[in-house]
Order: sequence, then C-alpha cells, then structure tokens
Amino acid sequence: MITLKEIDRNNFFDVIKLKVAEEQSDFVASNMFSLAQAKAFPECVCLAIYHDDILVGFTMYCIDEEDKEYWIYRLMIDSKHQSKGYGKAAMEKLIEKIKEDIQHRVIYISFEPVNDWAKQLYEKLGFAEDGRVIDGEVVYKLEY
Ligand SMILES: CC(C)(COP(=O)(O)OP(=O)(O)OC[C@H]1O[C@@H](n2cnc3c(N)ncnc32)[C@H](O)[C@@H]1OP(=O)(O)O)[C@@H](O)C(=O)NCCC(=O)NCCS
Repeated sequence: MITLKEIDRNNFFDVIKLKVAEEQSDFVASNMFSLAQAKAFPECVCLAIYHDDILVGFTMYCIDEEDKEYWIYRLMIDSKHQSKGYGKAAMEKLIEKIKEDIQHRVIYISFEPVNDWAKQLYEKLGFAEDGRVIDGEVVYKLEY
C-alpha cells in the first residue's frame, strides 16, 4: 500500500538519497534542493512516498503564494522503483488529501513538454491542459 509520510530526522538522509534516472534529471529538482526550498518557502509541504515500509519517492505541494491555489511542485519515484504503479498511487493519495480542502476547487501541476511519461500519468488522473506555459513548462489542471 502507498502512504505519504512527513520527512523528519528518521527519514531525511534516505529521502535525499532517492534519485531519478540520469536521463530524467532535467525533469525534477533534487530532493535536497526541494527540502531546502521548503525551508525558505514554508508554504511548501514535502512528503515521502512509501510502498509498505519501503521509501520509494518524494513529492512537494503548496498553496502558491501568488495565485493562492494548490500546486503540486514535485513528484519523483526513485529509478529502482519506477513503472510499478507507485507514482500513480501516490498522486491519487495526494489528490485525495488536497481535495479535503473544500475551500479550493483546482489543483495545478506543470511539466517539461518532452516529459511524455508525466503527461500520460497526469492525463490518466484527470488533469487537462490549462493553456499556460510557465518557465517552459506546460501547465495542467484538475478541477474538483
Ligand atoms: C513520472 C513518474 C513520477 C511516474 O512514476 P512511476 O511510479 O514510475 O509511474 P507508474 O508506474 O505509476 O505509471 C504511471 C503511468 O506512467 C506511464 N508509464 C509507466 N511506465 C512507463 C515507462 N517506462 N515509460 C513511459 N511511460 C510509462 C503509464 O502511462 C502509466 O500508467 P499505466 O500504469 O496506467 O499504464 C516517475 O517515472 C519519475 O519519477 N520520473 C522522473 C521525474 C519526473 O519526471 N517527475 C515528474 C515531474 S513533473
């Protein structure tokens, strides 16, 4: 079963060791960078993705300071654990969690246009093109 857990002194060093494949490295910042970013931007919530007791990935989301809407800023599954359905299951959990906040109605996510894997995953989860391209990344949205 996939669960999302806080990052603390017990899993910090393991979370920063998680890596995507070499050819995917332009698609997502390192977890070290994201955790540092979350320190400076405290609206960012970082979560570790577990499959049962095994740490398999990382995600970070926030209510963006500019538009005050939910954005999923990061999603990564360690290269050793990809293509096993964990990314999709983690996204489903995160979406479920965000949807509990009924003050909001939309979740945004963005990705590099060449990242077909991410595109397919987000479309399967119901995200659709929003029409914007920000910093070269295609913006998708999920209305709820
Ligand atoms: C994108 C990513 C998070 C997906 O996680 P994952 O656990 O590997 O993916 P899943 O096994 O849950 O598969 C989800 C969908 O991706 C697609 N997919 C799976 N394996 C794939 C492969 N080897 N190549 C291309 N697409 C693939 C399928 O559409 C799949 O859906 P399906 O199982 O219903 O057919 C992961 O590959 C990753 O960390 N990539 C590098 C970082 C990145 O690009 N992050 C997103 C930044 S926006």
